[in-house]
Amino acid sequence: MNADPAPLPRILVLVSGNGTNLQALIDASRERDFPGQIVAVGSNRPDAFALERAAQAHIDTFVVNHKDYGSREEFEGALMAEIRRHNPDLVVLAGFMRILTTDFVRALRGTMLNIHPSLLPKYTGLNTHQRVLDAGDPAHGVSVHFVTEELDGGPVVAQAEVTMDPDDTAESLAEKVQQKEHLLYPIVVRWFCEGRIHLGSDYVLFDGELLSKPMRLPDDRVTH
Ligand code: GRF
Repeated sequence: MNADPAPLPRILVLVSGNGTNLQALIDASRERDFPGQIVAVGSNRPDAFALERAAQAHIDTFVVNHKDYGSREEFEGALMAEIRRHNPDLVVLAGFMRILTTDFVRALRGTMLNIHPSLLPKYTGLNTHQRVLDAGDPAHGVSVHFVTEELDGGPVVAQAEVTMDPDDTAESLAEKVQQKEHLLYPIVVRWFCEGRIHLGSDYVLFDGELLSKPMRLPDDRVTH
């Protein structure tokens, strides 16, 4: 008799908003060969549309509302308890809009990814599209990185660039960047689940080799 196949790595996604990246991950996880399973979606906002997307896909959801807690530490204690309850191998931040403390991040070191709408290390923080326009940058895009203590500062696994047009606005850039996000995040999550990427002290190992610069999504991979 054949032994049962090994269980797929368990993915927990944290969200705060619309959840288009969550949707891209849900869609990818439905592919027959996807090497992971989304076991839960958690939000700090009870009204996040992402929760509806998860429910539609019959994925377990939970809410830890930061407004119900007197301090960041208490909020994070409750959030961590929910995370532990689901025993994930990977925590995916997908538009999760709370800054996390050092202790929280350390506890999940090497097992937490984030997606950020800029070509890191440029433009950490908010309003990236407008800041790119204000600076007249010729290039813009999206990065997926391991989460470390430094805000948007962890080693970058992969990036995708968008084409810049002279008449771009913050809105048009946001749209283009999101299209790339939806391609890039499932690819990187897949790599993690396949055991291909690991976080070193301040670098990424890809297939056991030090990644000297982020992987790049080929330009011809566009959504339509
Ligand atoms: C994305 O643009 C991501 O880069 C940022 O938050 C946004 C989330 O969008 N971290 P959505 O909720 O996945 O639609």
